[in-house]
Order: sequence, then C-alpha cells, then structure tokens
Amino acid sequence: MIQSNPYVPYSDSIEVIQPDEAQISQRIVDSMARVNRLMYEKYRHAIRDAHAKSHGILKGELQVYENLPEHLAQGLFATAKTYQVIVRFSTAQGSINPDKMSAFRGMAIKVIGVEGEKLLPELSDALTQDFLMVNYPVIPTGTIREYLKMQEALEKQADRGELFQQIAQKAAVGVQNALAAVGLADDTNKLSAPGPHILGDTYFSMAALRFGDYIAKINVKPLSENVRELAGREIDKELIEADENAFLTQVIQDFFKSGTAEYEMGAQLCTDLQSMPVEDGSVQWPDDKNPYQPVARLTFGPQETFSAARRVYADDVLSFNPFHCLPSHRPLGNIMRVRKLAYETSSRYRHHMNAQVRVEPTSIDELPD
Ligand code: HEM
Repeated sequence: MIQSNPYVPYSDSIEVIQPDEAQISQRIVDSMARVNRLMYEKYRHAIRDAHAKSHGILKGELQVYENLPEHLAQGLFATAKTYQVIVRFSTAQGSINPDKMSAFRGMAIKVIGVEGEKLLPELSDALTQDFLMVNYPVIPTGTIREYLKMQEALEKQADRGELFQQIAQKAAVGVQNALAAVGLADDTNKLSAPGPHILGDTYFSMAALRFGDYIAKINVKPLSENVRELAGREIDKELIEADENAFLTQVIQDFFKSGTAEYEMGAQLCTDLQSMPVEDGSVQWPDDKNPYQPVARLTFGPQETFSAARRVYADDVLSFNPFHCLPSHRPLGNIMRVRKLAYETSSRYRHHMNAQVRVEPTSIDELPD
C-alpha cells in the first residue's frame, strides 16, 4: 500500500539499543537512588528523585477533539471523548528548594478513565494513563551517556564533605547549572531563578513516544487568553519577596481562586528520522514545516490547588510514570528507556519509606479538595 501522508510509520525497528545500554542505565539509576537516600536522611521523609517539589495539583478535563484526521486520531486520541485529569506542577530538582532557585518545571498529567490494557504489567488493569512534560522542547542530556555524565557530576558534588547543605545547593540550581558544571551547557542559566509565570509556560515531552501508527513528541501550551498573556511574564517582585519559598504555589492558587484556564495538547509527528531522531532527545525537531498539531483541550476551573490533603495525595500517594501508558503511547529512545527503571525505583522507595500504598485513581473524586 502506498502511504499518502508524510509521516514516518511506527515500527519496532525504530528503536536501537545502544552499546552498554543496560549497564549505563543501571549506573544512572543507582546514582540517583544514592542521592535520593541522602535526601531521605536530610528530610526524614522520602521525596521523588526528580521533580520533588510540587507547586499545585489541579483537577481538570482533557477533551479529545472531534474529527481528528487519521494521523492524529491515534491511541488515546482515536476517539473524541472527555476525560478527567489530575495535573501536578513541579520543579525538576530532587530536593526541596526555594522557588527563587527554580529551574526546569514539570507538568505531569494523569488521565482517568482510559480503557484498555496498559504497558506496565503491574498496572495493566489501571484506568489511568500518564503524560509527563517539562517546559523546554528538548532534553539537553538527550542520550543516556550524556545523562550519566550529568548525574555522576551531581553525585560527586554530593559526595564532597559538607553533604546535605552542598547537595541541596548543587541540586537546587537545577539541570541547566549541572550541565554547565560539567561543560554541557553555558552558564547563562536563562531558565532559572525566578523564571516567568508558571501558568504561561509551554510544556513538552522533550523526547519521542509512539503515537499509534506514528511517532511524535507532544506538548501542552496555553490556549485561553488569560494564560497566553502570562507566557514569559515576570512574576511580581513583591510576590517573590513576600515568600521566596513558595511564590509559584501562590500564583497558581491566586489564579484558580476564580479563574478558568484552557491549554491545548499538540502532537508533532516525525516525518524524517534523520532530522527528527528518536535516539537523541537533545535534537529539536524542526517545527517550521512540521508544527505541533492540536489533538485535545485541557480545561481547569476554579479550585483550591494546594490544600494539605491534596499535596500529600499528589506527593506521597500518587506516582506519574511515562511508561504507565497505553502501548500505543510507549516512550521511545534510550533516554526514555532508562526512565522505566528510574521511575519504578524512585516511586517504590518513596512509597516504602513513607509507608504509603501507591494508588491509581479510578475516579477524580479520589483527589482531595
Ligand atoms: C525525557 C524527558 C523527561 C521529562 C519530560 C521528564 C518529566 C518529569 C516530570 C514531569 C516528573 C514529575 C512527575 C510527578 O509529578 O510525579 C518527573 C519525575 C521524575 N523523573 Fe523525569 N523527565 C524526563 C527525563 C527523565 C530522565 C532521563 C530520568 C532518569 C534517568 C528521569 C527521572 C525521574 C524520576 C526518578 C522522577 C521521580 C519519579 C517518582 O518518584 O515518582 N526523568 N520527570
């Protein structure tokens, strides 16, 4: 059959296992776990290896658009349907730091009510599917080799004497500075401290995932005017000075006291494996000719976004995992494959040490108000 669209069809041969992949992956995960245990000693509470600090936990709706063309009507997006979602906003460090030291920010989405067998055997019957995104289009350490360099440099800092203080500080400055420290990025650190309004950011999967019969990166960008106008907008100085620790939490809470926000989820389909590689997440797929195409709308109404009960539920009870998905949205490439063990290890330790049972919600009513 001759294909009538320009999109690269998915096949299992698109992923290429890298030399020493299992060994490098294990070293990454072991190093993260060692730093994470130090964090446990510091806080006497287990936190995530990455994206430890949450800023807001929102309930919302994901509305898959009607009449999507065949190349977009894939996987979860094959049928027009509205799902309930839980969204956790975070920053990337594996330690708890003042918001003033913010770096990459995360948006984790748990879609509830997704029928069909899921990829991870232990969660195969769950009615949820996760999408994890960060407010940057690529992952600068886009291969496990580069990620290992960054992770080991981070751990070395942690090993040098003044332990907790040092780790907290080094981890705090975030991925960008850690990369700079090992010569993988410049130290202008444009992303960090204190950064623009968190609700105006666009969030990206950074690396590729299966998109049904195709391959894609996905994003979520502000859609309604009230969040579009926050893109790149600096946060009020008075608000930062009033609480350098938690102004990101505050701006989300303030917004949703009465506000409703809409975002749009898009998929950028791969048209050329040379210029849009799957095995190197640091390459930005050119979007001039091949932009993200809309597939769904995310809507959040007024709500309390950071009650104590909600924070505990999101931080300690829930886990978000890129491999907790329909097989048709399996993450692709070596920087994605390492995440399978990394998230399982982090989540298992956190739940064990905090004596919490991991829960996959069956209804949005399980999210505390
Ligand atoms: C490729 C792009 C990546 C994106 C978009 C991403 C995004 C995220 C987000 C949004 C979270 C927070 C999830 C939550 O709210 O619970 C998170 C957590 C985490 N990330 Fe990533 N991440 C990426 C790559 C990686 C890599 C390469 C590793 C390690 C090798 C990693 C390890 C972790 C770990 C261990 C957690 C905590 C998991 C838990 O304890 O539940 N991530 N990531």
